[in-house]
Amino acid sequence: MMITSRLEEAQGRCPANDDEGSEGELMGLLEANMRAMYEASPWGWDGPAKREEVSRAHRIVATRDGVLAGFALFRFEPDDEEDPERAVLYVRELQISPRFRRTGVGTELMRRLHRLAKGLDAVMLTVFKANTSALRFYTALGYDIDQDDPTNYDDRSACYYILSAKPRLGLPSSSSSSSLKKKRKRRDDHPPRVIYR
Ligand SMILES: CC(C)(COP(=O)(O)OP(=O)(O)OC[C@H]1O[C@@H](n2cnc3c(N)ncnc32)[C@H](O)[C@@H]1OP(=O)(O)O)[C@@H](O)C(=O)NCCC(=O)NCCS
Repeated sequence: MMITSRLEEAQGRCPANDDEGSEGELMGLLEANMRAMYEASPWGWDGPAKREEVSRAHRIVATRDGVLAGFALFRFEPDDEEDPERAVLYVRELQISPRFRRTGVGTELMRRLHRLAKGLDAVMLTVFKANTSALRFYTALGYDIDQDDPTNYDDRSACYYILSAKPRLGLPSSSSSSSLKKKRKRRDDHPPRVIYR
């Protein structure tokens, strides 16, 4: 099927945005988590652009006992505007509140995104090279360097990686920690060819 019709189909299946977490609250978490990293990069911090992204993108929100634990912003789009080859779900932001990190919230949100990406070619995202904890997280989920990453065009100077995974990643369900452990073990036996070059 054509790229545009598959994107439309996936978008049509996507439920309305979760209404937990006001845009101000989401923006506050995004800024607290990421502002320093953006400021340390060549991109700098563009608050208005981030606010626009928070209000325009699709989003899913995770709460714990009514408290904002994390959220993901995403879009359905072609991998390249000028020369589209793939229909992708692009994760624009994944932000977990510090007190809820390492409790599976990020994995839970990614699992939901992978379900929404059914029928598409990939789930893609951009991550700062300096963001080692996020790189470890995505590696643990099975993400790898994408074909569009600058390193595949002999550019090693970029401050970011483009990572991707197939929608049917087979992320473990929250109840099956033993399958998670098995997957981890397999990964340890055969470390992914990712990232720390
Ligand atoms: C990166 C981030 C999204 C991870 O979310 P999370 O909810 O803490 O991750 P999970 O609890 O689902 O972790 C799943 C697995 O990923 C790996 N992982 C996650 N954070 C890690 C870290 N800081 N160091 C090493 N491994 C990590 C581990 O294997 C972990 O499993 P374990 O806890 O059983 O060892 C979260 O730390 C975050 O929001 N960071 C700040 C914002 C950010 O960098 N966002 C990504 C922008 S691209």
